[in-house]
Amino acid sequence: MTKKKFYVSTPIYYPNDIPHLGHAYTTIAADALSRWQKLLGKDVFFLTGTDEHGKKLQNAAESKGLKPKEFIDKIVPKFKEAWKKLNINYSYFIRTTDKSHEDVVSKVLQKVYDSGEIYKGTYSGLYCTSCEAYYTEQDAPSLKCPVHESKLEKLEEESYFFKLSKYQNFLLDLYKKNPDFISPKGKRKEVINRVKEGLKDLSISRSSFNWGVPLPFDKTHVTYVWFDALLNYYSATRLGKNKKYWPADVHLIGKDILWFHTVYWPAMLKSAGIELPKKVFAHGWWTVLNKKMGKSAGNAIKIDELISYAGTDATRYFLLRQTPFGDDGDFSKETLIEKYNQELANKLGNLVSRVSTLAEKYGLKESISVLSSAKIFESVEKYLENLEFDKALNEIFSFIDSCNEYIQQKKPWETKDSKVLYELSNAIKDISILLSPFIPETSEKISKVFNFPLTLKALKTPLKITKIKKSPILFEKIK
Ligand code: ME8
Ligand code: MG
Repeated sequence: MTKKKFYVSTPIYYPNDIPHLGHAYTTIAADALSRWQKLLGKDVFFLTGTDEHGKKLQNAAESKGLKPKEFIDKIVPKFKEAWKKLNINYSYFIRTTDKSHEDVVSKVLQKVYDSGEIYKGTYSGLYCTSCEAYYTEQDAPSLKCPVHESKLEKLEEESYFFKLSKYQNFLLDLYKKNPDFISPKGKRKEVINRVKEGLKDLSISRSSFNWGVPLPFDKTHVTYVWFDALLNYYSATRLGKNKKYWPADVHLIGKDILWFHTVYWPAMLKSAGIELPKKVFAHGWWTVLNKKMGKSAGNAIKIDELISYAGTDATRYFLLRQTPFGDDGDFSKETLIEKYNQELANKLGNLVSRVSTLAEKYGLKESISVLSSAKIFESVEKYLENLEFDKALNEIFSFIDSCNEYIQQKKPWETKDSKVLYELSNAIKDISILLSPFIPETSEKISKVFNFPLTLKALKTPLKITKIKKSPILFEKIK
């Protein structure tokens, strides 16, 4: 039997600087989802990578006196190291400077050009290099970037245009027929309203600098970085055995880049005759102590710092538990540590510690448990189908609460009841399996104490009785 496939992606990040909390957020979510789908038995493809062309990267390199590729080659390993530290298990890391990617960009451009949907003109208007995006005076009446608040550049250069305007009805129809294509719902409405106002043709090349993929039909132009970048999701599946993964099941992105993914991207694919992805999910924005995180504010939390507060699993847990995935969130070290102590240490850590200590002393004896996780599994499955990570975690933690109440009530330290200890150990097995997409390292540790594999099959079968040894402390309290 061939396994069902599942393809999830993160944005490909700009390696103009090292990764921070925001990048970690999307990547952790994609990792948790990918691990969950694997647990369900799917053949998962999880793509991440870096977006390496364009003026922003060229400028960043120049400011360091380096050639773009030299500069980028120093930063890309920082992303890979960060993902390793956060226990991110991606399938493939794409770089838009990979020859295989550039070839796909050329091919797609040629195809769209041949079908008559690209024409030459002059772009005259505003541009923000930090966003790598065009603005109209209507979007930015003060001539400042609405995102970066920096002065917009006035461009006037020869450019090729993609006939985006003719895709208005196609897009509205797409959103209508596929109500989940843009998620969550609030975001969908925003895009629909804007598309209804009409679409202008998109400038897809630049001729005033050269750090990009040359247009196959006019080498004096380089491809607009977004036209190049979006194609990463597709080009990664043109390699070797990856073909079967296209179309993507879900592109996880931040709300900042929703328009590119839900307007440009489907129109480009349609024009090139390529199947469309199934869903784009835009999550919310993290602030730090209620301030916008950024380079200029100097408050961007880098990965090493982030992990230093309470470790990798606590970081993963906190970011996914603290706010609903579509909502904005505010980060503070204090709340992270508070949650770590209250939930990971006091609830999960204590349960495992008490049960394993007593099981070592009194052993386990088979028994039918009242602590069944069957319903919990069903809810978690339903929530994760909708990317409600916070609700899935709440569900698992309320099961942990029930187990803690049960042990209080049964007092196995007095009764030495090895049946009760079995029931609790079995529940701990289920909890660790359900938590393994979120806190894989901790689940691994628990699985070694109670001797079970982290699989769906083990979730659905009673724990085999073995000799238990007291668990090492999972979450040392932080003051
Ligand atoms: O936009 N809160 O790259 P980028 C939540 N290269 N998420 C955040 C965040 C925050 N404060 N800051 C960043 C680009 N992110 C393009 C993408 S895709 C074809 C090309 C996350 O380095 C979030 O996922 O600016 C956001 O969409 C992404 O990083 C932007 O990363
Ligand atoms: Mg950005």
